[in-house]
Amino acid sequence: MKELIRELTQAFGPSGSEAPVRETIDTLIRPLVKEVRTDALGNLIAFRPGTGSGKRVMLAAHMDEIGVIVTAIDDKGFLRFSNIGGVNALALIGTRVVFAGGAAGVIGSEPVDELKDLKLEKLFIDVGASSRAAAEKQVGIGDMAAFHGPFQDLGDRVVAKAMDDRIGCAILVQALRELQDSPHHLIAVFTVQEEVGLRGARTSAYGAEPDVGIALDVTRVGDTPKSRTMEVSMGKGAAIKVKDASLICHVGLRRHLVEVAKAHQIPYQLEVLERGGTDASSIQMARSGVPAGVISIPSRYIHTPSEMVDMADVRSCVQLVVKTLEGPIDL
Ligand code: CO
Ligand code: ZN
Repeated sequence: MKELIRELTQAFGPSGSEAPVRETIDTLIRPLVKEVRTDALGNLIAFRPGTGSGKRVMLAAHMDEIGVIVTAIDDKGFLRFSNIGGVNALALIGTRVVFAGGAAGVIGSEPVDELKDLKLEKLFIDVGASSRAAAEKQVGIGDMAAFHGPFQDLGDRVVAKAMDDRIGCAILVQALRELQDSPHHLIAVFTVQEEVGLRGARTSAYGAEPDVGIALDVTRVGDTPKSRTMEVSMGKGAAIKVKDASLICHVGLRRHLVEVAKAHQIPYQLEVLERGGTDASSIQMARSGVPAGVISIPSRYIHTPSEMVDMADVRSCVQLVVKTLEGPIDL
């Protein structure tokens, strides 16, 4: 599974520029499902019919990642940029970025007196060009770049850029591989533009008409030195979301996920995330409403080039997805 995580995290796909990662996932899932299509926004939607009279279950993992977009190029060849999703200026200094075409750059900063003055407009990307003309040979206005964050295997834990949410994509692919028979009609959606407002989930949930929706995404943890209080910890199992800033999970579905975890001795923890949102909120409010919940992967250093997850948690999430799909879902 580590190889799958490596492949998915290293694929390119800032919000709105998901074509490369979509191609990677398409190749991986085609043998596992009956039908695959891409909708108008770019969501990759896979169908797998159930063996019984189960529910229409939509599983969503977003394939887009945060990044930056070029807004201006100066005479010396330095690029100014804006954010794609939630990027923190503090995490950017010295970070390398990579463009779709392969060009790379380093993020530098103008001097600032205080850290609070460190805003994106003080930062620039240096692509190694000494003039505007030279820079324009490599990049143009509106080009997007992703963080450079190689996959590293730390043993029990792994680290890479874009673990948010390629780890959710990896869990969904692995669950499709391991799932034998399911009574449910499965709609596996690799969504676009989550990081800029849960957009792909909205259109795909409308089209999929699910009876139940489950999103797979990362959540933060409270187990690093002096971190903000939060009950979720690395290595303590799949996090079953109760609430975040974007949704209150369907109570029946949340209870059901807990029951499945207990019945199969899958380690789990309950998650209340005070900030942040997930695709489940768009799914929940599709059409006249859909019971929706989230299986979250505990993660450290979210929205930096070095996002970390625990392999035992990843395993627990795969099992929880598979076991949930194998049995009846009565809410
Ligand atoms: Co995110
Ligand atoms: Zn995410």
